[in-house]
Amino acid sequence: MSKVLSNASNSELQRRTTVAEQLRGSTIPNSELLDNLGLYLRRQNLSRILYIHDLYKQIIDVHGIIMEFGVRWGQNLALYQSFRGIYEPYNYNRKIVGFDTFEGFISVDPEDGMLAKVGDYAVSENYEVQLSELLDFHEKESPIPHLKKYELVKGDASETILDYLKRHPETIISLAYFDFDLYKPTRDCLQAIMEHTTKGTIIAFDELNFSSFPGETEALKEVIGLNTYAIKRSPLNPLCSYIVIN
Ligand SMILES: C[S@@+](CC[C@H](N)C(=O)[O-])C[C@H]1O[C@@H](n2cnc3c(N)ncnc32)[C@H](O)[C@@H]1O
Repeated sequence: MSKVLSNASNSELQRRTTVAEQLRGSTIPNSELLDNLGLYLRRQNLSRILYIHDLYKQIIDVHGIIMEFGVRWGQNLALYQSFRGIYEPYNYNRKIVGFDTFEGFISVDPEDGMLAKVGDYAVSENYEVQLSELLDFHEKESPIPHLKKYELVKGDASETILDYLKRHPETIISLAYFDFDLYKPTRDCLQAIMEHTTKGTIIAFDELNFSSFPGETEALKEVIGLNTYAIKRSPLNPLCSYIVIN
């Protein structure tokens, strides 16, 4: 299993493993299991979902697509799909695009400090196929299911972002969510997307001001600066932050 950074104590990790085992071994019938997921969600999981919900609500009146930089298992993509279905079910223009290697970190730079290592945050083999099936499922739970409104872009995002924008020069971005944890892909993608933002675009970050992954702050400092826009936060999460282009 690939390395994932956690600040949880050993006893917290043990309790969480036990609950995950209970979920896998649950006697709740399949027909009712998804209706009862709240039984297993921790406060922190719920905070995260509420945070993504808060961001989504802020972009409802901003035209453009959503890009997630660093997808991993893809929960945020599924959440964006559900929030689109709830708040703007007929906005088939709100495409959701996820960038990832689906192989974890493929390189790290001196700007990334001592903790990040090649191979961290890898997923299981061909996971993107499983993720596509899940995203297809969520698409079918909302109106206009015959139009595919998401795209997974596999590979090094420093390169794939340029190719994507070449294929889609019409792109306007309403929300860009940065969660690579790393300096170089964050810098390159930030540089590439800036001319595709508008007033009201949210650029969100998962690891600013975080000593375990210093590269993300460095990338923001280099491309936009730390005092160009207010770096806002929410009480729902200690690490997440965002800027609003104005
Ligand atoms: C912390 S995880 C993302 C977590 C996810 N956003 C979530 O909320 O669960 C970081 C992801 O960035 C991806 N990543 C790192 N460097 C990358 C690069 N150069 N190109 C594409 N993806 C990259 C990794 O494969 C990993 O899946």
